[in-house]
Amino acid sequence: MHQPVLLQETIENLITDPHGIYVDCTLGGAGHLGCLLASLAGDAMVVGIDKDADIIEQTRTTIQAPNVKLVKSDFRFLTVILDNLAIKQVDGIMLDLGVSSFQLDIAERGFSFHEDAPLDMRMNREQALTAWEVINYWSIHDITRVLFEYGEEKHARSISNAIAINRRVKTIDTTLELANIIKDAVPARYRREKHPARKTFQALRIAVNEELEALRAVLPQAVEVLKPGGRLCVISFHSLEDRIIKQFLLAEARSCTCPPDFPVCICERRPALKLVSRKPIVPGDGEVASNPRARSAKLRVAEKI
Ligand SMILES: C[S@@+](CC[C@H](N)C(=O)[O-])C[C@H]1O[C@@H](n2cnc3c(N)ncnc32)[C@H](O)[C@@H]1O
Repeated sequence: MHQPVLLQETIENLITDPHGIYVDCTLGGAGHLGCLLASLAGDAMVVGIDKDADIIEQTRTTIQAPNVKLVKSDFRFLTVILDNLAIKQVDGIMLDLGVSSFQLDIAERGFSFHEDAPLDMRMNREQALTAWEVINYWSIHDITRVLFEYGEEKHARSISNAIAINRRVKTIDTTLELANIIKDAVPARYRREKHPARKTFQALRIAVNEELEALRAVLPQAVEVLKPGGRLCVISFHSLEDRIIKQFLLAEARSCTCPPDFPVCICERRPALKLVSRKPIVPGDGEVASNPRARSAKLRVAEKI
């Protein structure tokens, strides 16, 4: 069961007009979408996007309201998705990044290092690239880079060397095969901390699903389609994601970018966004205690000017 993170904080910040049009770019278990729908007037409209066809199908069985449009697509195509629905501007857009419990809990999807399954990790099962291909066919240099960058894994080099040795003998086919290779590759002390495969699995998931590329692509589109006064709410769980969001929002909230020694402004730049809070909103102790996934969550909110 997926417990939505920062639920009230997100919905309260997102809604500026109870009769408006809202987009949830990361439908998942529809926790946020359900709460959003319940908080809006009957004439409001909600678009729910997910690139996982199973999630769209599942939600169609539970939410059948006429004012909800469900779209199976990648949120990196946000403006095209809205164009296809003949929607020009919206009042609010939210993203709750990462994988949903629905995907994690189905062993065969290959996201979990606790259960044995083919190395898959695709959120969109129609896409060609899988974790199996990354592990067995990407260069060791690229695998090391992915583990360092996306997993912040300090043992990236030892893990990728162990992958190189093992895949020379036979392909690495399952989640537990990979988890055991990682366990053997890291120092014993590290094995006693959190699960030694945790960071590698997270890094692989980010690479397979091109999560950072999609995030970079959607943010400017979100600003483009928001109405003046409309809100953008983004929940992230990873420092790299949060850095991308923070830098984007700060850049869009900046006015003059002329060098400080210019006597007058010549760039005439006008900010597109106003930050609703400078610091990210984080979950309280109660939420973290009842939902460990919330531990690293950060919500950033901005308003279109
Ligand atoms: C953390 S879950 C969202 C949970 C949801 N807010 C809830 O309350 O149940 C993230 C969802 O976003 C989807 N997702 C991730 N990246 C995506 C992308 N680029 N395009 C569309 N959907 C994406 C995943 O498939 C997953 O279902």
